[in-house]
Amino acid sequence: MVKDSKVSGFYKLSREERVKKLKEVTGLGDEDLGPLIDPGKVDMEVLDHMIENVVGAMTLPLGIATNFKVNGQDYLIPMAIEEPSVVAAASNAARMARDLGGFTATDTGPRMIAQIQTVEVPTPFAAKDKILEVKEELLELANEQDPILIKFGGGARDIRVRIIDTSVGVMLICELIVDCRDAMGANAVNTMAEALAPRIEKITGGRVILRILSNLAEFRLVRVRATFDQKLLGGEEVVNDIIAAWAFAEADPYRCATHNKGIMNGIDAVVVATGNDFRAIEAGAHSYAAVDGYSSLTKYEKDPEGNLVGSIEIPMAVGLVGGATKVHPVARACVKILGVKTALELAHIIASVGLAQNLAALRALASEGIQKGHMALHARNVAATAGARGEQVDIIAEKLVKEKNVKVERAKELLEELGK
Ligand code: MEV
Repeated sequence: MVKDSKVSGFYKLSREERVKKLKEVTGLGDEDLGPLIDPGKVDMEVLDHMIENVVGAMTLPLGIATNFKVNGQDYLIPMAIEEPSVVAAASNAARMARDLGGFTATDTGPRMIAQIQTVEVPTPFAAKDKILEVKEELLELANEQDPILIKFGGGARDIRVRIIDTSVGVMLICELIVDCRDAMGANAVNTMAEALAPRIEKITGGRVILRILSNLAEFRLVRVRATFDQKLLGGEEVVNDIIAAWAFAEADPYRCATHNKGIMNGIDAVVVATGNDFRAIEAGAHSYAAVDGYSSLTKYEKDPEGNLVGSIEIPMAVGLVGGATKVHPVARACVKILGVKTALELAHIIASVGLAQNLAALRALASEGIQKGHMALHARNVAATAGARGEQVDIIAEKLVKEKNVKVERAKELLEELGK
């Protein structure tokens, strides 16, 4: 946990200076951050046991987004992503919301759904009644499977039954709703579903095929809102055009796919950094967006002062215990940097980054377009690669862009001239 996430000029520092600053602000040392700062320090033994046929590791750049305040708490946010501009854009959007309260996040609790697919049920409607009649007994059986989850306050909470018509006939889908607390919960709910299956067969007279969680985690939603300063955004016209850009996404699936992709740029980067399952998050996000016809995961409106109010509602099935989050040393370091204590706190932060990312993309698209920002950032990287430091980075980057010659060789020449 950090006192202040507004680390001004962070982007202007060299990587070594940034690491120093990060240690200073978080109070963390090499024992926590070692493998994050130097991927060569990652114990290959750990990776070897994570998946099969391991031969090496794929390293991604890990950046820190600044300026975030979520529910009154400041956070420095680790983001692992190959795409330039994402970290800068998130930090910039967070800056525009910061003085107007930052991000406010709530949630529906960490409940996952496990599905038990039952076919060849002679009387599906009567079978549905019978399952619901013995609901308490079934919940008890489910909870016997995971005493640890129960100990930490989680467990199976409810059962719902849906009868669906498919191309191969009617199916009875029994769904178990499980509070997963700080676990992502896939293992817990799959185990429960498998344990319940023989009872479901007996009750329904049918045959169970699949027993698996649903990634459409509609009972594990996070809602975040933030007000973005009109002046910092660039004025009234920019605010209006951002709203028009969002309305375009709401009305058109071709645009909406890209709009939601921009949200996931931020979300996936934090999900990956913390060792969570980004495919589950992607599946949850897009299926939730498609429930009533594919649409935007965010909404935008204007408040009476003319500021832009953005909000997001998204399933967020992330965990803090178990999986890569617990074993991967870089993921562990990222959780330490965040200083989060619960999976819901992490979920609030991730959804806030999604909203910030979307706002930043819409602001750029609705004003100067995204290429200018991309080019400016690229020029800064090129200047730094050529050896520029501190103030020099901005001076050289500006010249490179002006000359439309963003090359390391030219940056070196300019650096030499600057030295003279
Ligand atoms: C690029 O990775 C993401 C954007 O295309 C998102 C958007 O169009 O809203 C810029």
